[in-house]
Amino acid sequence: MKKLWGSRFAKATSALADKFSSSISFDKRLAVYDVKGSLAHVKMLGICKIISQKDSHKISQGLNSILKELLAGKFKFNPKAEDIHTNIQNALNKKIGAVADKLHTARSRNDQIALDMKMYTLDELTTLINFIKGLQKSILNFAKKNKEVIIPAYTHLQPAQVVLLAHHLLAYLEMLERDIQRLNSTYKITDTMPLGSCALSGTTLPIDRVFVTKELKFSQVTNNSIDSISDRDFVMQTLADLSILSVHLSRIAEDLILWSTKEFDFIEIDWAFCTGSSIMPHKKNPDILELIRGSVGKVQGDLSSVLIMMKGLPLSYNRDMQLDKPPFFNALDCIKEILEILGELFKNIKVSKTSIANKINDESLFSVDIMEYLIKKAVPYRQAHDTVGRMVRICLDKGRCISDLSLAELKRYSDKFEKDFKNLLNAKVSVSLKKSYGSTNPLLVNRQIISWRKRLNARF
Ligand code: ARG
Repeated sequence: MKKLWGSRFAKATSALADKFSSSISFDKRLAVYDVKGSLAHVKMLGICKIISQKDSHKISQGLNSILKELLAGKFKFNPKAEDIHTNIQNALNKKIGAVADKLHTARSRNDQIALDMKMYTLDELTTLINFIKGLQKSILNFAKKNKEVIIPAYTHLQPAQVVLLAHHLLAYLEMLERDIQRLNSTYKITDTMPLGSCALSGTTLPIDRVFVTKELKFSQVTNNSIDSISDRDFVMQTLADLSILSVHLSRIAEDLILWSTKEFDFIEIDWAFCTGSSIMPHKKNPDILELIRGSVGKVQGDLSSVLIMMKGLPLSYNRDMQLDKPPFFNALDCIKEILEILGELFKNIKVSKTSIANKINDESLFSVDIMEYLIKKAVPYRQAHDTVGRMVRICLDKGRCISDLSLAELKRYSDKFEKDFKNLLNAKVSVSLKKSYGSTNPLLVNRQIISWRKRLNARF
């Protein structure tokens, strides 16, 4: 197989070395970007009169026909040609003959791979953001459908206070929104055009890098030829974004797993997203959610793999950098799959309203409300905390409920307790009494739902 660099070599490379260094099995997914980059490059070569217009057209025609084959899934990759660049170059030579050799003028594979990877990453970032928006819409619909439901909320996995289920779900939307912001900022650092940096120092030929930048719809041209081919920040940053996103998806999955246990019994996951046990016939296991929860390990591993590969590499290009691709592609594929499946799963979750209603009767969930009742009556915070603490302890010791205490008994704890106090021991009242911006107050939560709906342009 003809190499792009073979002539200086006194003898053929070992078959083992060829196999070991080959990247076509995974970089073939960059094929379309490689051709589009070449189309812009060859157009520029013609306009700048570095090659004749006639040759430029001929090469463009050949590339366009390769592009068509690629888009139709008909292009035959040759596993023996070491990488995607060699594959396309060889295919072009076959199609249009010797003139194809002019395509690589004022270019190196070092700037070519940087360009391909940036074009691919920009498209993937856009897709990812759309997938996240899809999941946000699905969660928002679920929140809207169950707007009235109040659940116990937990800190340290101990029952703490009551909140609207929708309030909890909107927290997921906030987390995912920050993921979108991170990906948008990664988009900005990716959106710079490296082609024309050549091997590392630029070229003596009169190329027009700004033309190529515009032609490929990049926002800016890179400023330093060495950095252009050494930089894989956009890969590492995307992987870092994906790692945080995977942590979010894992935490969401964990909430749903907990909520669907017999012990919590807040929700029922659709059978379509559960599996059974090969030995225990009664089981309905949330395997899909568990696999989502477990995938953080894969994505963090992919990030580590690239960070460690890049660490300590001298500038500029080193072949080590080829190894960024499998983990990068793996993490992107994994997260896109999870975003899609989780969006579907949210569409068919059933809320176990009766079971939840029983759980929000637990009066300890209102202890902060009782404390704030006293604070509103000018009892100092510490004193109010002590009072409620004593009430809860004694009630627990004696097996009594706070709601059973008579006014006289209540007055023994604090003379500020009045008849109206009993109205407080109720989940609906508890959420409605919350006043602060960002709290679980139903009016505020409803406003948040409306504002998310506008933002996501969700259809109800
Ligand atoms: N397969 C290489 C990569 O992924 C492409 C660039 C090769 N350049 C070179 N000088 N060998 O990084």
